[in-house]
Amino acid sequence: MNLAVFVSGRGSNLKAILENEDLKNIITIVAVISDKQNCAAFDIAKENNITTFYIGNKEGNISFEKLVSWMKINSVELIVLAGFLKLIPSYFVGEFRNKIINIHPALLPSFGGKGMYGMNVHKAVFQSSSKVSGPTVHFVDEYYDTGGIIAQQCVDISSVNSPEEIAEKVLKEEHKILPYVIKKIIEGKVIRTDNRVVVLE
Ligand code: GAR
Repeated sequence: MNLAVFVSGRGSNLKAILENEDLKNIITIVAVISDKQNCAAFDIAKENNITTFYIGNKEGNISFEKLVSWMKINSVELIVLAGFLKLIPSYFVGEFRNKIINIHPALLPSFGGKGMYGMNVHKAVFQSSSKVSGPTVHFVDEYYDTGGIIAQQCVDISSVNSPEEIAEKVLKEEHKILPYVIKKIIEGKVIRTDNRVVVLE
């Protein structure tokens, strides 16, 4: 299956997808798209000979409109937001309904929404004195972090001393759960019923 991955920074989730043994023979990442021209994730893409697109408001080398046609011409069947921090325009979501997934570093529907990304999330979780956190993978709709939840992994954070410690624990699980969900989608085991998302064994 052809995938496109959206990133904004470090790219550790992109790397986890590329290095996952279960995915190696069943996916091809045909493009990595970023809103940050010089992000580390672009270096990972280039090392793996993957086409990169810098998507910006004015200065980017591709627009979301043009990306829609590129994705269709290149038979992209799944779009993964792996640390992409901008809102995806609604017409783009409409073109790829139920084909865009996002990883969020907390247990949605808590600690999501505009501005809740990266360390902001872990700081809010820490300040709340929550005893659990963990990644969520969900379908992308027109809003921040509200699409149907596909998978989550609880992490015990009852004895952490900093938001950074939470980030580290959650990231370890992100690197497992995102490839897991991609595999389940490829196997046709992620089913959308009227109002729930079910993952089959
Ligand atoms: C990850 O922790 C991801 O969950 C988070 O950005 C980080 C990207 O790291 N995404 C969000 O906060 C989205 N709201 P990475 O570039 O190393 O994969």
